[in-house]
Amino acid sequence: MNYDKINRTFDCEPTLTDTQILDFCRDGYLILEGVIDDETNQRTCAYLNGELPSNPSYIPEGRTRRDLERIRNSHEPSTLYLEEWFIDNVILNPQVTGVLRSLLGRNVGLPVLMSRHSTNCPSPSQGWHHDGGFVSGPKINFIEVFYVPQDTPPEMGPTEIVPTSHLDPPYAPELAQGVSSAGSAGTLAVHSQSILHRKSDATASGVRHMLKYDYWRTVSPERDWIIEPDFNLGTALSDRIPRHLTKYVADMYNWLCGIGDDFLITGGQSGPGVSENLIGPHYGPYYKGESQPGSI
Ligand SMILES: [Fe+2]
Repeated sequence: MNYDKINRTFDCEPTLTDTQILDFCRDGYLILEGVIDDETNQRTCAYLNGELPSNPSYIPEGRTRRDLERIRNSHEPSTLYLEEWFIDNVILNPQVTGVLRSLLGRNVGLPVLMSRHSTNCPSPSQGWHHDGGFVSGPKINFIEVFYVPQDTPPEMGPTEIVPTSHLDPPYAPELAQGVSSAGSAGTLAVHSQSILHRKSDATASGVRHMLKYDYWRTVSPERDWIIEPDFNLGTALSDRIPRHLTKYVADMYNWLCGIGDDFLITGGQSGPGVSENLIGPHYGPYYKGESQPGSI
């Protein structure tokens, strides 16, 4: 692990393979169950409950201690990033950094804003929604994480996520079928920020904390995760990806490989094979540069 405190970036070895990258492109999320240690989870809860004194490692330029106290007590307690124990054990947790390094390339930018979702349970489920600021498309310029610092079984209202909705949102979100991110303390749900999600129905009593934050790409995409020598994108797409998602997953995977411009989707009635009934040449390939997605 190479942590650059000045530039607030890290670098490390990637941990995802070609197939795992493709699966992330398809699903839009992966769960790291209970990866943060218990002591850190307890410290995080104590910090959020106002039971742990602040101990900032530095005062950011232009900020005062009074600013930091206001930020700590807001719904966006970004001062957690000034606590060394939080940076070392949550933000730079080796399991999550390996995943982020795989998806975002070298010198991953650390979060600058913390979003706090603390809920008094019992409480009803939210409606399905995309968060503000989401963008659709193949580019993965940042990755979001949900972190629960206490055990969050189904009765504590864990976040539910709708797989593949970052690519192809359902026409009727109210009928969406989500998967639960329920898990033990220290579970991280690593996901595309554009995925459809909601807090689920909480029937138990107590406070449920959930923290949400984004890591950022600082370099151009390239295929520098764990390469599988025999990986064939065309075969992997037909084996692992539902047909209606193939073009989106291929587009995202190729963008991550740094060759997205060669495979831009034209869509519609473009492309050879779209129909036998054209009365003239088709207007360009379905994929710019290739008639089929991927040739890696
Ligand atoms: Fe949300």
